Amino acid sequence: MLSLQWKPIAMTVALLQLYFLKEAESFPSLLDRINQLPGQPPVAFQQYSGYVTVDDKSQRALFYYFAEAEVDPASKPLVLWLNGGPGCSSLGVGAFSENGPFRPSGEVLVKNQYSWNREANMLYLETPIGVGFSYATDTASYEAVNDRITARDNLVFLQRWFEKFPLYRNRSMFITGESYAGHYVPQLAELMIQFNMKEKLFNLKGIALGNPVLEFATDFNSRAEYFWSHGLISDSTYKMFTSVCNYSRYVSEYYRDTISPVCSRVMSQVSRETSRFVDKYDVTLDVCVASIFSQSKVLSPQDVTETVDVCVEDETVNYLNRKDVQMALHARLVGVHQWVVCSSILDYELLDLEIPTISVVGKLIKAGIPVLVYSGDQDSVIPLTGSRTLVHGLAEELGLKTSVPYRVWFEGQQVGGWTQVYGNILSFATVRGASHEAPFSQPGRSLVLFKSFLKGQPLPEAF
Ligand SMILES: *[C@@H]1O[C@H](CO)[C@@H](O)[C@H](O)[C@H]1NC(C)=O
Ligand SMILES: *[C@@H]1O[C@H](CO)[C@@H](O)[C@H](O)[C@H]1NC(C)=O
Repeated sequence: MLSLQWKPIAMTVALLQLYFLKEAESFPSLLDRINQLPGQPPVAFQQYSGYVTVDDKSQRALFYYFAEAEVDPASKPLVLWLNGGPGCSSLGVGAFSENGPFRPSGEVLVKNQYSWNREANMLYLETPIGVGFSYATDTASYEAVNDRITARDNLVFLQRWFEKFPLYRNRSMFITGESYAGHYVPQLAELMIQFNMKEKLFNLKGIALGNPVLEFATDFNSRAEYFWSHGLISDSTYKMFTSVCNYSRYVSEYYRDTISPVCSRVMSQVSRETSRFVDKYDVTLDVCVASIFSQSKVLSPQDVTETVDVCVEDETVNYLNRKDVQMALHARLVGVHQWVVCSSILDYELLDLEIPTISVVGKLIKAGIPVLVYSGDQDSVIPLTGSRTLVHGLAEELGLKTSVPYRVWFEGQQVGGWTQVYGNILSFATVRGASHEAPFSQPGRSLVLFKSFLKGQPLPEAF
């Protein structure tokens, strides 16, 4: 009896599997579909995640998370988001702390009402190899990874991702990212344009770069004035930091293992005054006390009253290390024991930091690709002043006239920041009160910025 009753069920299961496999053949993305993330509130949009192999020989596979647009995904563009580092995760930082649909809070996920998937289909990529859940079975692949390898892998990723998601081929596409993605994004876009000359695959409509490294000396040396004008260093230290040893010199000595006594002296003075209890990525934000505790036992407990959850990264680490979460994401830990925000196994060619990518941005503009450079204005790591100088300089070099003069822009009834546009193609904008990770600390303002960027419109001039 029992076996008879079971038979039809077993057959149905087999048939369903067959059906599923057949479906999966025509829609490979079905295998990557996320049923539900543990603790997530109900949502109406689809999510996918999984691996795309970018090198069959050494089995290098990049992990992605894709959140379709909340409403009418077919009518919305495709946006790739990349975090920097080099070596930090677009899943943990970008998706789960900045502009993704959810943020972890204890055991559950809370809906982010300013998620960028309100405006676009958001694709988050953990890149290069060795970051987050991305891996290579051949560990030699983690050595001497550089900008060239990263850009090539990212390009192969996109080509193969389109095989999984054929519906998104030829969709209007934008690439966005922050920090060291000031290297990744323009370098990838340049390869896409080159690829398009052979076969028109990418329908690239623009790039946006948040607090990006574009030209190392200009970006890094704007730090001294930023520290000084925000009261983080004294007049005399400022003088030393701009004459005796500037920050670009220090960094370039540091990565060559040749720190001079004079730079060492200046930097210890700078570090002493700025203090490690101030977040350099947002000089006004409180540091996450939980994180500080793990690094320093000397702090006495203090009450934290906060409007922004400064510990969101710790929550993300806990969440992404849950077995049930990794199952739901189709993620594997290969060669590492846990998921971390910034890779400890990746050995990146750090001198690539000195490659200027502002010139690549210039090439993109010449190829007709609109570019937005935006700056969280509380960041001292890549301060707005350096980015503004670089954008202005590029506009002059390309002969682009100001099409929107420097002015404020609004979110709601408040100033969201300042903006200037050159030749209707190159835009600069600050995000007022925002950190290095602008969508994390100013999600509402960042969403307004994102929306204007996608539409190719200047930021709101009035309210
Ligand atoms: C791709 O999109 C463009 C418009 O953005 C359109 O002109 C072109 O025909 C499309 N190509 C394919 C192969 O669908
Ligand atoms: C930084 O220091 C280097 C080396 O001393 C020097 O060449 C460069 O001009 C300095 N830059 C600034 C902005 O002070």
